[in-house]
Amino acid sequence: MIDDLVNIAKEAGSVIRDGFGKSVKIEFKTGDNNLVTEIDKASEKVITDFIKKKYPSHSILAEEGSGEQKDSEYLWVIDPLDGTTNFTHGLPIFSVSIGLQKNGETIAGVVYDVMRNIIFSAELGSGVEADSEKLNVSNEDNLAHSILVTGFPYNKKENPDKLFERFIALTKTARGVRRLGSAAIDFCYLASGVFDGFWEVHLHPWDICAGKLIVEEAGGLVTDFHGNKTNIYTKRILSTNGKIHEQVINVMNSL
Ligand code: IPD
Ligand code: CA
Ligand code: CA
Repeated sequence: MIDDLVNIAKEAGSVIRDGFGKSVKIEFKTGDNNLVTEIDKASEKVITDFIKKKYPSHSILAEEGSGEQKDSEYLWVIDPLDGTTNFTHGLPIFSVSIGLQKNGETIAGVVYDVMRNIIFSAELGSGVEADSEKLNVSNEDNLAHSILVTGFPYNKKENPDKLFERFIALTKTARGVRRLGSAAIDFCYLASGVFDGFWEVHLHPWDICAGKLIVEEAGGLVTDFHGNKTNIYTKRILSTNGKIHEQVINVMNSL
């Protein structure tokens, strides 16, 4: 099945690449910050049409609403374009994210970094690869020497869940904090050892499903802000190389 995830992510990615830099129809989902374009929808259609045809009994959870709930042990969790704001502004950092769950456990995850043309693919218990190279999280064990990444939810104006206080505290403590605009790519850079940690509040299952498995298969840790286990519906995600996890939690708990 992993080959299906890879092939369909690439096919959706080519739809996105073709639309990049062109004038596309934009709609606003919940206010000025939360965009959806015709390309998000076209990418999703490529993926869900494929699944509906090849695996008609499987359930699908897809961000733009073309999924369907079935009485199945399998659930596909899809973000057809993660990084829509970047895409619409001409910033080439966005991805396709496809996770596959069996009985509530993620068994496969693929993220396609569209403009770098890199496929990150993980299968439960088999590790993670980026274009056939095995990935491992970093060995950094000192938060002061770490680079972290985060993102902001669309209702950031309301400063939900002490969003900005946490950002300030970790910016002061770590070597640096980056903000790329695609949660799935944030997870992949962590799995590659580029970033040492990633946190965000108010993520959705399609932002998390594939990326969480990719980090875990690279030896990293994904928990909530207290170190508890998470699933794809958890709203507060902390993901690190494992070695700086407690140091990040200590900073978060000092707020
Ligand atoms: C967004 C991106 C971004 C994150 C937002 C997400 P979208 O997804 O992953 O990095 O900060 O919380 O909603 O809307 O571009 O699919
Ligand atoms: Ca997303
Ligand atoms: Ca999206």
